[in-house]
Amino acid sequence: MRILVAITGASGLEYGRRLVEILKQTDNEVSVVVSSGAVEVAKAEGTKLPKADYHENDFSCPYASGSNPPDAVVLIPCSLKSLGEIANGVGNNLINRAAEVALKERSKLILVVRDTPYSLITIKNMEKVTLAGGIILPATPGFYGKPKKVDDLIDFIIARVLDQMGLKHQISKRWGSK
Ligand SMILES: Cc1cc2nc3c(=O)[nH]c(=O)nc-3n(C[C@H](O)[C@H](O)[C@H](O)COP(=O)(O)O)c2cc1C
Repeated sequence: MRILVAITGASGLEYGRRLVEILKQTDNEVSVVVSSGAVEVAKAEGTKLPKADYHENDFSCPYASGSNPPDAVVLIPCSLKSLGEIANGVGNNLINRAAEVALKERSKLILVVRDTPYSLITIKNMEKVTLAGGIILPATPGFYGKPKKVDDLIDFIIARVLDQMGLKHQISKRWGSK
């Protein structure tokens, strides 16, 4: 698969860092874009962001065009700003544009939205993206696997993202399996 991982300026950058780490161990073609918002949040969270392949304003990336779409675009974490732009067709940077391309070309679009609580505006934006074919996958890990550390909670979400992309993995135990 050709996958674009976009790390935007929501809390929980560790989710994005971990997804890139896992995907880089596979045969998939993984490209990374990091928003300037994410760079700001990284200062607060102390996360070492993965090396970006494209600047957020670099429209020379193949995935900025429907003539060369990716198989999947994942915003992880996804800020409410990026969600709002995607929901309303604002393709003003590579991240929003690639998401727009994914929707129009019927590729997979996964938004790991992070904020709480949600306003009606956010809920409506999530509805719009869902109706357009995108997957809203909030960063809300389950606790039924009896997590022992923060990494377990992060991997719970990464597992769901990989599931959505149809990628096999064993990073998190499934309910009902030994
Ligand atoms: C430390 C910090 C934490 C933030 N956490 C969130 C968050 O969890 N969710 C969110 O939607 N925005 C959050 N923001 C605000 C976004 O970073 C801001 O709206 C930014 O413009 C998003 O731009 P981007 O989507 O292009 O990265 C945070 C900002 C800072 C500085």
